[in-house]
Amino acid sequence: MNTATVDAIKTRKLHIESYGCAMNFSDSEVIASIMGEHGFTQAADEHEADVIFLNTCAIRDNAEQRIRERLKHLRGTKSKNSDLIIGVLGCMAERLKDKLLEEEKLVDVVAGPDSYRDLPKLVAEVDDGGRAINVLLSREETYGDLNPVRLNSNGITAFISIMRGCDNMCSFCVVPFTRGRERSRDPQSIIREAVALRDQGYKEITLLGQNVDSYLWFGGGPKKEYKKLSPEEQESSVDFADLLEQVALAAPQMRIRYSTSHPRDITEKVVITMAKYPNICNYIHLPAQSGNSRVLEVMSRNYSREWYMGKIEMIRNIIPDCGISCDIIAGFCTETEEEHKDTLSLMEWSQFDFSYMYMYSERPGTPAAKKYSDDIPEDVKKRRLQEIISVQNQISQKKNQNRIGKTFTVLIEGNSKKSANDWVGRNDGNNMVVFPKEHYQKGDFVEVIIERATTTTLIGKAVKKSAPF
Ligand code: SAH
Ligand code: SF4
Ligand code: F3S
Repeated sequence: MNTATVDAIKTRKLHIESYGCAMNFSDSEVIASIMGEHGFTQAADEHEADVIFLNTCAIRDNAEQRIRERLKHLRGTKSKNSDLIIGVLGCMAERLKDKLLEEEKLVDVVAGPDSYRDLPKLVAEVDDGGRAINVLLSREETYGDLNPVRLNSNGITAFISIMRGCDNMCSFCVVPFTRGRERSRDPQSIIREAVALRDQGYKEITLLGQNVDSYLWFGGGPKKEYKKLSPEEQESSVDFADLLEQVALAAPQMRIRYSTSHPRDITEKVVITMAKYPNICNYIHLPAQSGNSRVLEVMSRNYSREWYMGKIEMIRNIIPDCGISCDIIAGFCTETEEEHKDTLSLMEWSQFDFSYMYMYSERPGTPAAKKYSDDIPEDVKKRRLQEIISVQNQISQKKNQNRIGKTFTVLIEGNSKKSANDWVGRNDGNNMVVFPKEHYQKGDFVEVIIERATTTTLIGKAVKKSAPF
């Protein structure tokens, strides 16, 4: 390769857009790292880019429609710059595979979540005049050895993926198909990443997995259940509670969060570990999906309403003021009006701090799509969702009103969206807190007294800087 070609490669610019869950945002940082090693720098915006990657989500139909719209828009951009390379990555790429190349003529690269190391080669194939695809899923890939390039970062909070894939097969969910088998990442590489973030001045880490409670490291390789490990493997194995402890000890001045817990698998050991270390935030995202045991069975969630309530009790017994949030699906196949009401009553009983609430969206190829008809009419789904949202809003409103007059430790993450004179950050329980900047700085831990509250935000005044822990 002559120098001119090397220079040409060195100056190429990449623009990555991330859609969907935190896992995708975290993957984009891995992608930036891989492409960076092959001479790609980050473009300031899409117009400056030689390559545009859309890191996509397939969780609901509307997530995919959004990407289709974005691709339509990019047709205009590409018509002005025919050398522009467009890649569709992530879960929608994995779900649709080569169909995506057939359906969207402007797409040059299709790459699934386990094939990102191959991206420079796929782009080179496009440089040679082709279109390129790799949607192979892996049982081992965790990208654990890479140094993610932090994108759109506030410099204060960062994600660390601790595992990939999901083995749960909840009947409504496309994730096991788009992200493949569950595998855990080497704890040493997780600790290294946490310490590197600390050294760069980050103050908060969120450990990510689709079901963090089934994290298990025993030396690598495909997942095995704990009871199937040899005595030596059991002796040296690291479960999620062990990992949390190791990260908390390795970065004692940083806040540690994690997501997502699974109601079937969350253990007392995890919650006791949270209680033991002040730098592990007292907040758990524990998606129930439904409050009715029959619907939960049809969803293949492997727990009942009573089991879920037992887990909430267990958490509150150990950490009485633990923040708890939830995901709910409205109008899943066969759900009756009575069963929907069970979801509302579970929400009332649980008093979630907030919830992510969705209408059921049938995903082709999932067990639910194969076994059941999507039989709840759209208008009924919408009405049920509205009722769910309204119950949650009342709970959030009430809980936030009760926080007025209290003082919380808040980590300042950046400017408030509404006012450049205010900071925004979160308290330990993951409530958003806004307050006047005064002399405080981004990254400070500050004591804030709450004066007002909306459904989603606490508004207050800083009292003093606080020692983090
Ligand atoms: N691993 C997490 C959730 C990942 S997907 C867990 O097990 O809880 C995030 C949320 O999207 C899910 O909790 C669920 O509420 C919602 N979701 C997933 N598939 C869906 C579908 N087909 N229709 C509507 N919502 C869905
Ligand atoms: Fe999907 Fe269930 Fe896995 Fe969550 S646990 S990603 S809902 S299959
Ligand atoms: Fe979407 Fe894939 Fe996450 S489907 S929610 S981006 S795992």
